[in-house]
Amino acid sequence: MNLPSHMGARGGHLYLGAHDCVSLAAEFGTPVFVTDEDRIRENFRRFRAALTRHSPAVRILYAAKANGNLSVLQTLAREGAGADVFSAGEVNLALLAGMQPEHLLFNGSSKSRADLALAVEKNIRVSVDSFDELRQLDTVAGDAGAEVEISFRVNPALEVPTHPKIATGLSTSKFGIPAGQILDAYREALACTHVRPVGMHCHIGSQILDVEPFARAAEVMVQVAGEVTDIGVDLAFLDIGGGLGIPYRRGEDVAPGPEAYADVVMPVVLEGLAQLGISPELWVEPGRSLVGDSTVLLTGVNSVKSAHKRFVNVDAGFNLLVRPAMYDSYHEVVVANRADAPPVQEYTVTGPICETGDILAADRMLPVVEEGDVIAVLDTGAYGFSMSSQYNSRPRCPEVMVSGERKALMRRAETVGDLLATMEPLPWH
Ligand code: LLP
Repeated sequence: MNLPSHMGARGGHLYLGAHDCVSLAAEFGTPVFVTDEDRIRENFRRFRAALTRHSPAVRILYAAKANGNLSVLQTLAREGAGADVFSAGEVNLALLAGMQPEHLLFNGSSKSRADLALAVEKNIRVSVDSFDELRQLDTVAGDAGAEVEISFRVNPALEVPTHPKIATGLSTSKFGIPAGQILDAYREALACTHVRPVGMHCHIGSQILDVEPFARAAEVMVQVAGEVTDIGVDLAFLDIGGGLGIPYRRGEDVAPGPEAYADVVMPVVLEGLAQLGISPELWVEPGRSLVGDSTVLLTGVNSVKSAHKRFVNVDAGFNLLVRPAMYDSYHEVVVANRADAPPVQEYTVTGPICETGDILAADRMLPVVEEGDVIAVLDTGAYGFSMSSQYNSRPRCPEVMVSGERKALMRRAETVGDLLATMEPLPWH
């Protein structure tokens, strides 16, 4: 396994930046997510540099769903990121983190009237996903005496090489407006009193390890941009979504970096727009590629069992990291207190949840594992804590941020009191 450059093994212990993962586990307890802020900054700067090498007129809207901790949003806000926001909660957190309303795009295929009203109130652009939503938004903005700027989400009908549950631009997907209806959508928006179409949006899927599908999506977007320009839309931005994957199988997966992505996508966009004689800003919405590799989930070994397999029973399960159970995702695991030891035994790492599918890592060669060891699950910064639950009435674990020599809690552990906090006693009990 090749550890990423911000991680390493020293004196038999796994390190995240300057921090010994075994000491972190002892200090904060397990399970715990630990995030390296410096890595997030490095990932962001690398992505931005890759894009701006081609054009300065680009904006990065971090996909807040990947990791919505306020501290993570603040780190990215200070770097100049905006955000792709998908709910009222994400809108509020992004604004609290210091992001500018004009750098947010409110996405989603099922927004409520309250969501639309929030966008209007906070002056946030909306990526409209249906004719119905367009009409509702026009009414909501009219009621507020306001005008709201929008894009439409285009469904580019593209197959992408990823897990079917995270491919979002298929013709059969619930997201976006089919290309055959998109001109009518813009025509209707042009005729609205309180809505102004100024952008165009798409997002083809997630964890994509090939840059070609992004180029195909960019071609569709440029073509549709030409058609909507012809009917009188003045495009201020073209948002091609996120989706660039990361090498979860370290040493095996070949993942194109943001440079390869930009080198393929930017020429398609820039040459296409130049031919059309228009110059909207280009927006991208990376999530995983900014935060995915920043974080380890440290989980303690409760017991080891030799049955038909050798099971390592740890204290984190799909309550904290659902990706393996939900998408059969692969995450590297490292015995953090024996990081230099050779792999000698095959183990399956299982969580404490009352389900057979609660497996974090199946059939992995590891050093000998025993009670009290600390297992680090790598690349858990994206869609880790943000998809966690309290299943089996397990309070969620804390999140810690490290930066250089510094370390601090960025979310405390939940308690049983937190489980109870939102429950109401029934009047007839
Ligand atoms: N923009 C939109 C509109 C999105 O829906 C998403 C992700 C992104 C951007 C960011 O995509 P990324 O760069 O992170 O691939 N829970 C799944 C991934 C779901 C992605 C949802 N949308 C997983 O754990 O793999």
